[in-house]
Amino acid sequence: MANYPRIASFKTFQDFDQRLTELGLQMPREEVVRFGSESPMARSAKVGPLTIGNRYCILPMEGWDGTKDGRPTELTRRRWNNFGISGAKLMWGGEAVAVRHDGRANPNQLCLTEQTVGDIAALRESLIEAHQDRFGETDGLVVGLQLTHSGRYARPNEKMTPEPRAVQRNPVLDKRVQIDSDAGLITDDELKSLIDDFIKAAKTAQNIGYDFVDVKHCHGYLGHELLSGVDRPGPFGGSFENRTRFLRAIVEGIASEAPGMQIGVRLSMFDVLPFHKGIDNIGEPEESGDPRLVFGANAAADGIDLEEPKKFLDLMQSLGIKLLCTTAGSPYYNPHIQRPAFFPPSDGYDPPEEPLIGVDRQIMATAELKKQFPEMFIVGSGYTYLQDYLPGVAQAVVSQGLADSVGLGRMVLSYPDLPADVLEGKTQQRKKICRTFSDCTTAPRKGMVSGCYPLDRFYKDRPERMELVKLKKSATTGSDSSK
Ligand SMILES: Cc1cc2nc3c(=O)[nH]c(=O)nc-3n(C[C@H](O)[C@H](O)[C@H](O)COP(=O)(O)O)c2cc1C
Ligand code: SF4
Repeated sequence: MANYPRIASFKTFQDFDQRLTELGLQMPREEVVRFGSESPMARSAKVGPLTIGNRYCILPMEGWDGTKDGRPTELTRRRWNNFGISGAKLMWGGEAVAVRHDGRANPNQLCLTEQTVGDIAALRESLIEAHQDRFGETDGLVVGLQLTHSGRYARPNEKMTPEPRAVQRNPVLDKRVQIDSDAGLITDDELKSLIDDFIKAAKTAQNIGYDFVDVKHCHGYLGHELLSGVDRPGPFGGSFENRTRFLRAIVEGIASEAPGMQIGVRLSMFDVLPFHKGIDNIGEPEESGDPRLVFGANAAADGIDLEEPKKFLDLMQSLGIKLLCTTAGSPYYNPHIQRPAFFPPSDGYDPPEEPLIGVDRQIMATAELKKQFPEMFIVGSGYTYLQDYLPGVAQAVVSQGLADSVGLGRMVLSYPDLPADVLEGKTQQRKKICRTFSDCTTAPRKGMVSGCYPLDRFYKDRPERMELVKLKKSATTGSDSSK
């Protein structure tokens, strides 16, 4: 188990501040969290035709709990309603919604089709109603929909059966999703028809009232993998121009088929080599990983190089895109980069670095992008590990202009109305603060619905909780046969 001081063990802000100083981290932080109209987090922002009511954002988070045909269930609606009562005014996409069946990351992922459109429309309405009930208004509430194709990580039919549509061969990652021939690669014709599916989905999303669509480019899924497709021949691989053809074609199509629809991109702004469990369970980079196939990394792919990501942002701007949500890495092959945590998910590894370093890396890389692209509205991610100190860092980041909005992922699963409490000047409820136990990631890895099993009473009481506890126990004693 990792030997870093736990955030919950810090008694005061000074302890937290001192730890950041010891680590030489640059993230800004403030002790006194302001509220009401005094808070920089309460300020609205205008982005094109949209007015975003404040600077908290809810990041997309799926729950592996849709129906086989891609509709939301009660569990999905509960999660979206919790997003609605959070107090955040920007909903970055709700959760990943596949634009067609073969792009689903699991058989329970939402899928936007003619059959499901009514249910996906109702999901938005229900979120808005929950917001209205809690706050008595919906001013500045902006709700997007995240559109995806899972590419290499598609599992549309069986939870444990990968059916990858990868961009290119990548030996280390191929092994993990059982690619042993080019049959696992998506063809150019498939990509062309997929572009049409994204455009159609964006038009549908517009018709049912979503304010924007996120054309997902993160976490190792198709859009993101295309950006590193240097070995792919043909019109979608090789040069930067070819690797970004997918985005350009989708944006041009949306402009002509769904004029006025706003577009955002969630981008893994940097990445590193895939990691695996090494000595003493601590994560280490795959020695045979190919650094050329890593987008936003230096030559050895052990650190950041934002040169290409900046080129990508230049392109986004030239296409008229103003909304960017930054994230990093992938939950599949380097989860500590993407969602810094004290406790790893069951298929993960113990943190190879103090998780605060991971948080700082995302904050400072986002700040670098914001500095160079001041006209974009940029949402940052990966803040949950800050726990009790999240609001003070969020406030400092936004007031110093290092990002325009702070996105909340796991925190909102355990403590849905944290932003409302902070903005209303209430004391934070410590027992609801996410301690990064990673059960919300472990559960789906074991074929169960996701949720905050340790802290949310609703999930605590579900039968899956006992199963999860048993599985985690057997994994630590080495008798886990479920993999
Ligand atoms: C259970 C779970 C589901 C997630 N689903 C998505 C998703 O559908 N789309 C996406 O872009 N990111 C997804 N993420 C990543 C989060 O949006 C976020 O980037 C990550 O959790 C780091 O932010 P945090 O530190 O606030 O948790 C998911 C994360 C978790 C924990
Ligand atoms: S299961 Fe709950 S406490 Fe654990 S990481 Fe997820 S949200 Fe946080």
